[in-house]
Amino acid sequence: MDPLQAESGAASVLPRRRFLAVCGKVAGSLVGVGVVLVVARSFYPPLRRWIRLPPFMTPFRPIAAIDSLPPGEWKLVPLTADTADAKSKTEGPAVWVQRDRDQPEKFRVLSPICTHQGCIVKWRADRSLFVCPCHGGTFDAEGNRKSGPPQSPLAMLDYRVKDGQLLIRGEDG
Ligand code: FES
Repeated sequence: MDPLQAESGAASVLPRRRFLAVCGKVAGSLVGVGVVLVVARSFYPPLRRWIRLPPFMTPFRPIAAIDSLPPGEWKLVPLTADTADAKSKTEGPAVWVQRDRDQPEKFRVLSPICTHQGCIVKWRADRSLFVCPCHGGTFDAEGNRKSGPPQSPLAMLDYRVKDGQLLIRGEDG
């Protein structure tokens, strides 16, 4: 082989190897950052508003039969089987769900996690507000911040209706 050709061949292999090594490091760093963010949102729930899991990690899953959701009323629906019993209904992951009174095929699904420091907000029908028991933050029925220390609205979650079931993306409450 011509020495000049061999030299140019070696020169083209070297940058390719370097390029692949850089790509590997970038991919590894991105995976590392992703893992840190997923762990952070599980330890500090208010981060869930900004750090959303990608759709492939959060498939739609059934949470309740739509017939069990009375139109016009807010209901705290548990997200795990072990919170479905009456005793622990307000503990563990859950979402606030309201079936529309005039259009019963439409719903509002809100995260109950206060965007201040992560306490679970309660619906106060007499005030038509969600009220946070920790520092008194309030939110309207759309989840918009009304008063108190929270600076952001409650997270509104995606939903679907299928075979008489309400499905939401697999948020963990
Ligand atoms: Fe809700 Fe502070 S945690 S107002």
